[in-house]
Amino acid sequence: MNSYRVGIVGLSWITNDPAGPGTHSVLGDAMPGTHLSGMARIPQVQVVAGCDISPEACDLFLERWDSTWPGLLVFDDYNVMLREVPLDIVAIATPDDLHGPVLKAAVDAGVNAIFCEKPISTHTDEVDEMIAAVEAAGIVVNVNHTRRWNPTWVAAREALRSGRIGDLVTITGKIGGERAMLWRNDSHVIDIMNYFAEANPIWVVGELEAAHANYGTRYHGDGGRDASLEPAANAYWAYDSGIRAFLSAMKSAVSILEVELIGSKGIITVGDGQAWLREQTESGVVTSPILPGYSMVGMQAAVVDLIDALENGTEPQSPPHEARKAVAIIEGILGSQASGNNRFDIG
Ligand SMILES: NC(=O)c1ccc[n+]([C@@H]2O[C@H](COP(=O)([O-])OP(=O)(O)OC[C@H]3O[C@@H](n4cnc5c(N)ncnc54)[C@H](O)[C@@H]3O)[C@@H](O)[C@H]2O)c1
Repeated sequence: MNSYRVGIVGLSWITNDPAGPGTHSVLGDAMPGTHLSGMARIPQVQVVAGCDISPEACDLFLERWDSTWPGLLVFDDYNVMLREVPLDIVAIATPDDLHGPVLKAAVDAGVNAIFCEKPISTHTDEVDEMIAAVEAAGIVVNVNHTRRWNPTWVAAREALRSGRIGDLVTITGKIGGERAMLWRNDSHVIDIMNYFAEANPIWVVGELEAAHANYGTRYHGDGGRDASLEPAANAYWAYDSGIRAFLSAMKSAVSILEVELIGSKGIITVGDGQAWLREQTESGVVTSPILPGYSMVGMQAAVVDLIDALENGTEPQSPPHEARKAVAIIEGILGSQASGNNRFDIG
């Protein structure tokens, strides 16, 4: 069995938190929901180093994980870490607008694979530079749009692919909550809509929330911390396959993320933890649950997927060209808003 030396850049809770304690006497710990708790379940992974500009984050990383991977090194500069520590895989969990420089430095340092947080970037021009660097180096990248490895969402796509609702016609995505921010969190629902569409978005009509009516066409958030710096939006877009998509991404008190797939013969509704199939039968509309059939979730599965791609040449579930689509749709929404809510072509 191969072993992979891993370095982590960005040591906030999304990488650093342990899996929650078990509340059941038999079933063990909660499923891991962070980079390191997921990696701790993968025997091939040997985390050797972490980097953060915050000394407190570095201390917590050592305190929590040095017993799992003894001898961990910490750095406050990822360029130094990449220069001094030979690494096979780098995980990137810096703020939303700081993935590109870290990815390019990791490629230049000669790593074999990268697990990059979402959104892959806040601009498509930077995504294109990232894709060019990755392709030139021939390395594998998985972008952490986590639902692509969530058993409920995977089961819903399997039901769709097996023809249970006929041809997919329309996708409706809803996201709410106080942090329904275009890049930070709406990118999740837009990406999972792309996951179901399996096609390329070609144009979009969008409208930003009133408070950001004059936002402009370039990202100017703070990396995803301050929700007031990123707009919410409603949008309608087309895929080159003919599928149409509606997005309601509005800041609200209730935190939801749901997708409805309307097909020629039925409807699938998916949320975190449940999916339902509505089929037209001779005796009327029948609703039944779509049951997830897998036991590995989220970031553990994403890293296993990355290693599988490395070892067997498979395409991972969330390659950069897929993650680019969400950034392009978000930019298209800005472009549409700036042009008086007209249809905006997506390149
Ligand atoms: N996939 C998911 O479900 C999910 C969930 C939460 C966050 N995220 C993503 O993870 C990333 C991090 O999110 P966050 O809320 O923890 O962000 P954050 O702003 O708290 O930053 C993450 C960490 O990066 C560190 N950092 C900043 N600049 C750095 C640099 N130059 N070098 C090294 N470290 C640096 C910060 O000190 C912090 O500890 C974001 O891209 C976010 O969208 C994904």
